[in-house]
Amino acid sequence: AKAGGRAAKGLRFEPVAPNTADKVTVPEGYGQNIVIRWGEPILRGAPDFDPKRQSAKAQAGQFGYNNDFLTLLPLSSRQRGHGADQLLVANHEYTDEELMFAGYDPEKPTREQVEIAWAAHGLSVVAAAGEKRTGALHAVPRHPLNRRITATTPFEVTGPAAGSALLRTKADPSGRRVLGTLNNCSGGTTPWGTVLSGEENFNQYFANAEKVTDPERAASLKRYGVTGGASERRWEEFDERFDLAKEPNEVHRFGWVVELDPYDPGSTPRKHTSLGRFKHEAAQPRLSRDGHAVVYMGDDERFDYFYKFVSKKTMRRGTGAEDRRHNMSLLDEGTLYVAKLTGDSPADEIDGKGTLPEDGEFDGTGRWIPLASGDRSFVEGMTAEEVYVFTRLAADKAGATKMDRPEDIEPSPRTGQVYVALTNNTDRGKDGKAGPDEANPRNANKHGQVLEFTERGNDPTARAFSWRLFLVCGDPDDPGTYFGGFPKDQVSPISCPDNVTFDAYGNLWIATDGNELGSHDGLFGVATAGARRGEVRQFLTVPTGAETCGPLVQERRVLVSVQHPGEVDGASVEKPASTWPDGPGTYVRPAVVAVWPQDGSGVGR
Ligand code: FEO
Ligand code: CA
Ligand code: CA
Ligand code: CA
Repeated sequence: AKAGGRAAKGLRFEPVAPNTADKVTVPEGYGQNIVIRWGEPILRGAPDFDPKRQSAKAQAGQFGYNNDFLTLLPLSSRQRGHGADQLLVANHEYTDEELMFAGYDPEKPTREQVEIAWAAHGLSVVAAAGEKRTGALHAVPRHPLNRRITATTPFEVTGPAAGSALLRTKADPSGRRVLGTLNNCSGGTTPWGTVLSGEENFNQYFANAEKVTDPERAASLKRYGVTGGASERRWEEFDERFDLAKEPNEVHRFGWVVELDPYDPGSTPRKHTSLGRFKHEAAQPRLSRDGHAVVYMGDDERFDYFYKFVSKKTMRRGTGAEDRRHNMSLLDEGTLYVAKLTGDSPADEIDGKGTLPEDGEFDGTGRWIPLASGDRSFVEGMTAEEVYVFTRLAADKAGATKMDRPEDIEPSPRTGQVYVALTNNTDRGKDGKAGPDEANPRNANKHGQVLEFTERGNDPTARAFSWRLFLVCGDPDDPGTYFGGFPKDQVSPISCPDNVTFDAYGNLWIATDGNELGSHDGLFGVATAGARRGEVRQFLTVPTGAETCGPLVQERRVLVSVQHPGEVDGASVEKPASTWPDGPGTYVRPAVVAVWPQDGSGVGR
């Protein structure tokens, strides 16, 4: 079948071909600029980046490492100044010490290197100014709203598990005040103008799990992937809270969704226990018709689950200080659910290769199983506090559906349908592991899929939903792929969907991480409705070793986070695999990139 005519509005650009160029490759007629790089000063008094003279103090005032999630928030006329017209919030997932420090010895990090890494984690708030004639965007250093949050910034713990004995440590007997946030992956922007960010692979920062002898504690550490021995970065040698033998509860204080009010640089950011503790990829809020806040969340691990939270209280529309305080308490109390999916085709029609079942679709129904609501647990043998702190174990007991690494989840602002990126799962079908099911239909799944679901009655607070696979990714020539029913000879190949966003036309944009088709990762747009539904078109590719993150599509520009460029086995400052963005002789640097039509028109028009 041939689909003639033009691509959907918003996706009218010449698709970029798969490639392995060490640069950001964009469509014909598009320009690009670096918005901000690792190490650029954002706070007053912070020095310019000098890779040979790094310090923790400098880094704490500079843009952090490995930017992942991005959002842009509006500035009122009172908040502008310095030419800024928007507020950029980015997070900094983790550090690549080999690419940051010349001569880095992973077995003997210095205190200064460790403290620089602490300062390079977290979040950045930085004002941004758009160019009038193009879509170029520039960071505005020293703006009064600019802020850095690091691995040592104080956070307030909120919600039903705040103050729990499970969260108390020697340094914080209250169980309500945590230093820092770690491994922030993707996030979300709330309807009340704050930013959410998910703490993902926090397990890697904690050492000596084998010294924890209590069998229940040991089992929970194992379920969260906290392994024994020294940690990868050896932070435990410089701060004993990272040593489980000395501080068994610090690990419970990470793995949460954090909320930041970027408009108040003096505010204390929060960790919300009501949203559960797991490897949070992201947290995407929406409102029900009557104003309850609903947050969708994925737990990025092979065979893990996706969740939603429904707030007890409803959002106030006012913008006064009292309304804002109220809205910032919405995530303190509500009900936490996990998803269970049932396919509608006979199990023997799911062959593990991606062959469509006889009804022509991977589809079915789903239920949201409640795990806890406020102080009340719905899981036998677990208190509510335990459900929040050991959410994976609660969801195991509840019989949730084991998915192929649930990453970003986002509802379409146009249709209300929700999209779940399931990035891959090479262990599906292996000995002793779960086999294929209709929502995760391929064994040894290298390329991932995108699931689309509709809440019953299109009500975000519903307890039931219907679902279908929208994309089964991979080489379109592979019979086990599916592109929303669109002719497969007319789509861009896509592999490992990770972060998702929508443009103003309702098209889904998908960033990839881990492309297994021989190309670098990239960003793709795809129509979700109409005659072009499923027409995947590639908008850009990223440099060597990088993943594409934080996509954001505005009318005049597309923003992406180029995360961990040059991250290739064996690469180092001395032997770089990439010299993006500044070329030979310079350090490879994660950065935020803006891409825009050179004629000043809208993206994809
Ligand atoms: Fe940090 Fe699941 O990607
Ligand atoms: Ca991610
Ligand atoms: Ca079916
Ligand atoms: Ca990822």
